[in-house]
Amino acid sequence: MKVVVTGAAGFLGSFLSEELLSKEHEVIGIDNFFRGKKEYLPKHINFKFHEIDLVKQPKDFCKIIEEEEPQLLFHYAAINGTKYFYDIPYQVINNNIVMTQNVLNACKNSKVKKIIYASSSETYGEPLEIPTPETHPILLNINTNRDSYASSKAICDFYVKLFAKENNIDFLILRIFNTYGPHMDTSEYGQVIPEFINKMFNDEKFTIIGNGEHTRSFCYVSDHTRLVRKLAETVSNQVVNIGNDKETRIIDLAEMMHKMENKEFNPEFLLEREYDHKRRCPDISKLKKLINDYPKVTLEEGLKRTIKCYSKNIQSC
Ligand SMILES: NC(=O)c1ccc[n+]([C@@H]2O[C@H](COP(=O)([O-])OP(=O)(O)OC[C@H]3O[C@@H](n4cnc5c(N)ncnc54)[C@H](O)[C@@H]3O)[C@@H](O)[C@H]2O)c1
Repeated sequence: MKVVVTGAAGFLGSFLSEELLSKEHEVIGIDNFFRGKKEYLPKHINFKFHEIDLVKQPKDFCKIIEEEEPQLLFHYAAINGTKYFYDIPYQVINNNIVMTQNVLNACKNSKVKKIIYASSSETYGEPLEIPTPETHPILLNINTNRDSYASSKAICDFYVKLFAKENNIDFLILRIFNTYGPHMDTSEYGQVIPEFINKMFNDEKFTIIGNGEHTRSFCYVSDHTRLVRKLAETVSNQVVNIGNDKETRIIDLAEMMHKMENKEFNPEFLLEREYDHKRRCPDISKLKKLINDYPKVTLEEGLKRTIKCYSKNIQSC
């Protein structure tokens, strides 16, 4: 099948493209390299790439959909990375919404049969229920710029669902919880695991934002891509949590990483980010029921693979 992956040079988009290519799909990747990297793009005969800014070049994207006639569209492009939510909140909310509108408009009167949208667990805010099911309400807080991202994702959940219904296209909204692996941004704009790896190998002081008591649940990228492919192939018109349901304290994650690398663990605690969510863990019973599969890579194994990759500075392992 011919498919489009937006955000194909990014962390999840690059691995998702590889997974789809491994199952004989033809993949057309789109990215503007805001955070994605050329070296992460798959080198495969069935992979084509177009450098397009989905906010500024909607016509170019429409042309690709018209000419290539893909049947599935995975919309993974977005401004992601927690520090961006605080530093450039207007760009985050505006670009994420506008690019989604442009992607959807291009699907009008096209051959696209299903739109798979990368939404986020951030839409659940500080959850009232742990593990958090898909029925949990969207919680947004106007008092924090952090929610520029969560609100863009929440609004786009509605856009995708309503556009799909209006245009007789199937949809799948993925509420993605923390996912990790190679290809993640190691800068201050990256996520916690690559940030820790970077600090462990380069910094004199190992710092943790907050007191380390916050929890997250970490899903290894190969689990994510397999589960998404299976969902896309068989499930329609659902909102589905996708992540690992093993909850880990940030301090335990940091200690585990130090032990694995035989490094002394003397963290320094920094001021917590305002309105940072204290706990996050998905209820994945719906995911299991829909595809009879779930994340299988343990945190220890996934960290080993990730650290090995970053410590060798391999760009596309
Ligand atoms: N990684 C996670 O744990 C996680 C969790 C929840 C949701 N998500 C969502 O999954 C998707 C992929 O996340 P990721 O972690 O791979 O992030 P990422 O930043 O690595 O990938 C996003 C890609 O979108 C591209 N992009 C940004 N603006 C664009 C534009 N205007 N036009 C074209 N391309 C543009 C970026 O260059 C980047 O390559 C995002 O939508 C993100 O919100 C990710």
